[in-house]
Amino acid sequence: MPILFDAEKKVFRLDAGSSSYAFCIDSHGYLFHLYYGAKISDTDLFYLQSSLQMASFCPNPPDNSPFTLDTAFQEYPVNGTGDYRVSALSILGENGSTATSLQYRSHAIQKGKYALEGLPAVYADENEAETLDILMEDPLTGAEVHLLYGVLDNYSAITRAAVIRNGGSTPFVIEKAASAALDFPTMDFDMVHLYGQWAGERQVCRAPLTHDIRTVASKRGSSSHAHNPFAALVSHSATETTGEAYGASLVYSGNFAIEAECDALETTRLVMGVNPIDFAWTLNPGERFTTPEAVLVYSNEGLGGMSRTYHKLYRSHLCRGEWKEKIRPILVNNWEGTYFDFDEQKLLAIAKDAAELGIEMLVMDDGWFGKRNDDRSSLGDWFVNEEKLKGGLKPLVEKVNALGLKFGIWFEPEMISPDSELYREHPDWTLCAPGREPSIARNQYVLDMTRKDVQDYLFDAISAILSSANIAYVKWDFNRNLTEAASAKLPPERRKETFHRYVLGLYSLLDRLTSAYPHVLFEGCSGGGGRFDPAMLCYSPQIWTSDDTDAMERCRIQYGTSFVYPPSSISAHVSAVPNHQTGRVTSFETRGNVAMAGAFGYELDLTKLTAEEKELVKKQVAQYHAYAPLVQGGDFYRLLSPFESENRCAWMSVSPDKSEALVTFIVPRTRVNFNSYLRLAGLDPRKKYLDESAGRVLSGDTLMNAGLNLSRNYCDGESVLIHLKAVQ
Ligand code: DGJ
Repeated sequence: MPILFDAEKKVFRLDAGSSSYAFCIDSHGYLFHLYYGAKISDTDLFYLQSSLQMASFCPNPPDNSPFTLDTAFQEYPVNGTGDYRVSALSILGENGSTATSLQYRSHAIQKGKYALEGLPAVYADENEAETLDILMEDPLTGAEVHLLYGVLDNYSAITRAAVIRNGGSTPFVIEKAASAALDFPTMDFDMVHLYGQWAGERQVCRAPLTHDIRTVASKRGSSSHAHNPFAALVSHSATETTGEAYGASLVYSGNFAIEAECDALETTRLVMGVNPIDFAWTLNPGERFTTPEAVLVYSNEGLGGMSRTYHKLYRSHLCRGEWKEKIRPILVNNWEGTYFDFDEQKLLAIAKDAAELGIEMLVMDDGWFGKRNDDRSSLGDWFVNEEKLKGGLKPLVEKVNALGLKFGIWFEPEMISPDSELYREHPDWTLCAPGREPSIARNQYVLDMTRKDVQDYLFDAISAILSSANIAYVKWDFNRNLTEAASAKLPPERRKETFHRYVLGLYSLLDRLTSAYPHVLFEGCSGGGGRFDPAMLCYSPQIWTSDDTDAMERCRIQYGTSFVYPPSSISAHVSAVPNHQTGRVTSFETRGNVAMAGAFGYELDLTKLTAEEKELVKKQVAQYHAYAPLVQGGDFYRLLSPFESENRCAWMSVSPDKSEALVTFIVPRTRVNFNSYLRLAGLDPRKKYLDESAGRVLSGDTLMNAGLNLSRNYCDGESVLIHLKAVQ
């Protein structure tokens, strides 16, 4: 039973994997947080509630009792009634006040995991999870707040969300509704988060918490390149393998905020959810608002343990559809090979070489539709450019299929070019605040995805293409941030709902399309990895990680991405040199070795490869077939961080039964006479492993404690792939 309720003490204890989480209902109806951490066995935990009640100037509700909300550890703190820290909920009532108060009313424990209306979420069946649904109420506004907890038996993961219903008789406005809040009785943490930019996503930042409010957020309309919707609080001494780590990951693709506040009492509050900036949601009597889901993971095996829990959970209980745990086809994408300059002949030449080399799919990127020969036109005109592809899509796809290859196609559905038939017909479909000129970015505007007619148009237009030929894959791109995001379709007082409604519209469309085309493999993309978030994984089990395909840059980007996202979701391609983003030259082997750590492919003009390079492609294709089950289905261990040393980077994958492992060792920048002992992780200490490259057999304990000796002189950018196989 993962959820226990001690009716006498009024304490809930949630046991998820090797973690426990506890809170109680106090005599005034408040929900006080008691504990989150390694598994414990008691429920009589009320003694853990804060007894420091000398907070100056703070009110003592409700009966002048000595306690104050400002020092209490709370499950879902509210605004304006005596807790001055960051709050989870703020409701603007009809009386014009945002003072909010919540009291416990009832609870229910059910088998299985709750689902969220209109929003993607972790799923689990009745044997795998339980749900706790706590009903709280604000007596004045009539707001009924359901706090949902999903407790997964076999994962150290607890999911949280809130559903707010207007149970009163007058409308109110939700100004902030977080998915989760978490109070810790200490601030002895480092905060880890992933920041970045276009072509430099998910860089790792780790810094101690201080007495302030630290916020990681996006208000760009998407989860964004700038910050990922993730943060971890880790003990100062935590490493990849040891120490405590609390991960917090938000299943959401829009504006989000994760706030960590430390007060003078040395406590920490973490609050995460939809960004309250540029947000307000009117709730009429009887209506409901659902927050996105927060996924909390506890690990006492350091950051590595936390990441592996996210990887397994997201791979098997968040990704959906037939591709989620299937080995992904090796694809060649023509973007960096041809950019917009292609026609049927060029594509077929690439496909012919691809087939000869063992590549399994050709992806036709941007430029196949409307009159699009550069990025200045045609977004929205989702019909084939017959000047480039004479006779249309079907004959091309048939020819590609005849070569033995699958065929994939690129779309950027959420956009509209001012120079497009769609814009000339429906200028009003552009997302824009009434009275303002829409800002342009990459020569394009954004469609108002809050509108049902826009969603229907896109469903029909994309369906027409997907049904017109044998299309096996869709790359779903999104290449600008939102501006003037105030839908003209909404009344002025509801326009701050636009950002969230945009995301709901996107999910609804993706849901319809992925259900209608269950065999199609969807890949997410946003100018590289600008929308690499858990919610997009529900529709696309792999995401284009970055437009930076330079192997050395990819070491950092893929390493950072692995903090939350499974290798099977990290799309990675071998591209040409000098690299188009950095101008750097790295060997073909290294480009392959780095890309091999994810959903593998090529992003170049195969017809331009030398005979020697073509032999290397064949070798990499064979390696991928041998190693993909290990990489995409195994356990991932980070060994040497490119954020800590510019000289060494390493990671490895271990099969679930520990009978096989693949180690990747990279030297981004060499040093002369520099030792390289590499201690491995995740092996069975008692098993003997054959290191195929060295022809040496060593036991797991030797490999994990003494390590491999990889010391020799390397060139900049050299790398080594080591395959280990258990021999007994
Ligand atoms: C941005 C993507 O990240 C690229 O891979 C490519 O598809 C371009 N858009 C096409 O415009």
